Order: sequence, then structure tokens, then C-alpha cells
Amino acid sequence: MARNVKHVLIGREEIAGMVRSVGARINADYAGREVMLVCVLKGACVFLSDLMRVLDVPVAIDFMSVSSYGSGTSTTGTVRILRDLDADIAGKHVIVVEDIVDTGLTLRYLKEMLSTRRPASIAVCAAFDKPARRKVHVEVEYVGMTIPDEFIVGYGLDFGGKYRNLPDVCVLSDDDGQGGTK
Ligand code: XMP
Ligand code: MG
Repeated sequence: MARNVKHVLIGREEIAGMVRSVGARINADYAGREVMLVCVLKGACVFLSDLMRVLDVPVAIDFMSVSSYGSGTSTTGTVRILRDLDADIAGKHVIVVEDIVDTGLTLRYLKEMLSTRRPASIAVCAAFDKPARRKVHVEVEYVGMTIPDEFIVGYGLDFGGKYRNLPDVCVLSDDDGQGGTK
């Protein structure tokens, strides 16, 4: 089914304000410390690049790419690591940067898995949160914006690999499910 952008849900100015306020909280909380931002590809790449430029604490970045297993095993929250970090995060103050928290399964798995690598601390920063769809509890220390249960694209988020480049967060027409890729 063809999909088209239906309407802008969150405009670029509002997104920029969200980034500034999340960044200000991180700057305050991590003052005097160095932060390792772990970007979950691909969706979080736009948010990462905005967020890192409003941070005034020393920052290092790294990337990982994950894929959820099919619906049969998704309730376990096991995710496949497609690309692991280059860096050793032991002793680092890690902030996992995600595009969106949906069921919570991906972030819960990532947080537990990264915790076994003995970081000094670990927190999660997600641009968007859809609490209506949560299946498992996961502590998300920094949430940019809470959104209704709609499938969104733009600002890094895709449908079928497209629309990531839209500067605004938009809702698609003919919404028949959660068709995005990681
Ligand atoms: P969890 O494990 O929290 O997974 O269910 C979150 C991941 O699901 C994708 N996702 C979306 N992607 N628009 C998208 O483009 C959406 O509205 C959406 N909701 C969830 C996304 O990859 C996220 O990292
Ligand atoms: Mg993602």
C-alpha cells in the first residue's frame, strides 16, 4: 500500500527546542564528566548529530546497529547485534542515544547487554517516546518528547528505509502497521 506524508506532527523548530532542553539536562547532570554517546543506527543518527552539538561536556561517540528478531521471539526482547561498538565502554559514562522508544524491548536489551561491559554509568536518551505501546519497563532517563500512538517518519525515522531526511516529524497516510526498519 502506498503511503504519503499525511501531516507534520512535530515541526523542526519544536524539535530544535526539544534537543536544547534535553541537552541542557545532560550538561547539568554530567558536568565535570566525559560522556560516551552510543548511537543506535540508523534512526538515531540525526538526533545524535544535533544532540552532540548542544553538549558542552567532553563527548566521544560510537555507533551500534541492532535488529529485533521476528514476531515469534520479539517478546523475549532479544535483539541481534548487526554492528557492535568499536570502543571499550568499561569505566565510561555511557548515554545510549535512540530515536524512539516503542515496546521498550530494544532498549531494555541494549541497556542490560551494555551494562555487562562495566561502564561507570549508563543512561538512555530517546528523542521520542510512545508510552502507549510499551510492553516492558525500561528506565529512559532522558525523553525528548512523548508522542501519541502513531507511526512517525522523518528526523531519522523511516518507513521502508525512506523519509529519514525529512526535517520535521511526520505521520504517514494509510497507516497499516509498524513497517519501519531499524
Ligand atoms: P522497541 O523495541 O522499543 O523498538 O519496540 C523501537 C524501535 O522501533 C522502531 N520504531 C519506529 N520507527 N517510526 C519509525 O520509523 C515509528 O513510529 C516507530 N516506532 C518504533 C524504531 O526503529 C525504534 O528504534
Ligand atoms: Mg531505532
